[in-house]
Amino acid sequence: MEFQKVIESRRSIRKYDPNQKVTRTQVEEMIKAAMLAPTWKNSQTARYYCVISEEMMNQVRSECLPAFNANNSADAGALIATAFVKDISGYERTGEPSNELGNGWGIYDLGLANENLILKAEEMGLGTLVMGIRDEKKLCELLQIPESETLVSVIAVGYAAVNPKMPARKTLEDVAVFL
Ligand SMILES: Cc1cc2nc3c(=O)[nH]c(=O)nc-3n(C[C@H](O)[C@H](O)[C@H](O)COP(=O)(O)O)c2cc1C
Repeated sequence: MEFQKVIESRRSIRKYDPNQKVTRTQVEEMIKAAMLAPTWKNSQTARYYCVISEEMMNQVRSECLPAFNANNSADAGALIATAFVKDISGYERTGEPSNELGNGWGIYDLGLANENLILKAEEMGLGTLVMGIRDEKKLCELLQIPESETLVSVIAVGYAAVNPKMPARKTLEDVAVFL
């Protein structure tokens, strides 16, 4: 698919087709695309906890997501919790933050990687939903995410059962300044 079409056609999908399953190989392909993103000093701190079993997905939805996101991701074929290893991206070897953003750079790197992941999904004919509203403590416990990592989002992946319109975007003038 042409790149411009991929970025224009990707939408947040909140209803998935229960009859079409997502395979582990598909999830692996998406993560491989995420791994190609640039990172602070090539630190590659993004981590992915891929929930693909029916049983675990039900548990994540019922215990770790608020009802509206559990509902949004019902029938998704995979739930990918995304995290990054703390205190590396944005940090010096001495352990000091390189500048005022500190672990903000770890989140920045993860965001770049996750955009690759969701655009790759779009190219593969899969829909996604990034969920920032989730129970961090319960997810870390259930997925055994170590304390050295920070959990950020959960990304639902599946075959879209809807075709939403693009929510309005700001104008170029609203967001860009040329100097
Ligand atoms: C960091 C982040 C967190 C989000 N969290 C949620 C969420 O918890 N639940 C939800 O339904 N959508 C969530 N979204 C989806 C946004 O609402 C959506 O991206 C936005 O409305 C633009 O729509 P589009 O993705 O179709 O272009 C999130 C998106 C991002 C990037």
